[in-house]
Amino acid sequence: MNDTLPITLQVNGHAHAIRVEPRKTLSDALRIDCGLTGTNVGCEHGVCGACTVLLDGAPVRSCLMFAVQAQGRALRTVEGLAQGGNLAPLQQAFIDHHALQCGFCTSGFLMLATGMLERNPTIDDASLREVLASNLCRCTGYQNILRAVAHTRDALRAGTVKNVDGAQATATSQVSR
Ligand code: FES
Ligand code: FES
Repeated sequence: MNDTLPITLQVNGHAHAIRVEPRKTLSDALRIDCGLTGTNVGCEHGVCGACTVLLDGAPVRSCLMFAVQAQGRALRTVEGLAQGGNLAPLQQAFIDHHALQCGFCTSGFLMLATGMLERNPTIDDASLREVLASNLCRCTGYQNILRAVAHTRDALRAGTVKNVDGAQATATSQVSR
């Protein structure tokens, strides 16, 4: 018996027409059915944040949503950050500040921070620290992640970066280092 449903997911501006069981998580649909494996799955019960994606601009745990719930919503994943062959300023800042080691948590942190900075580009240090504490990293000790995100926030504030993602990546040629 075929108990799958046809749905269309809008991911990074592209439509993905797929068939899923109603119980399939959004994270599995993104990875398996859409082929977007940048979204990682760690705990699968909402704790680690590795599966964080943006849903209508807000960070969500994609392991806690069913794919069918995301129909008609705008999804963004880590694959959509770099544009036109250019890393997003936030991605470049992660490189510059050594904000990753194994990288398993990285896509989740990038999407969490992207959603946070797009909503509040002037977020203060204490609030930034509090938001980033919602995702887990077992490698870095968090300090370099905090530095990378704070650097991007400061660049947005100074006008040297126009967007968190790769769209119109920089006002000047590079994120200042
Ligand atoms: S895999 Fe979704 S929160 Fe850990
Ligand atoms: S870099 Fe390894 S879990 Fe964060």
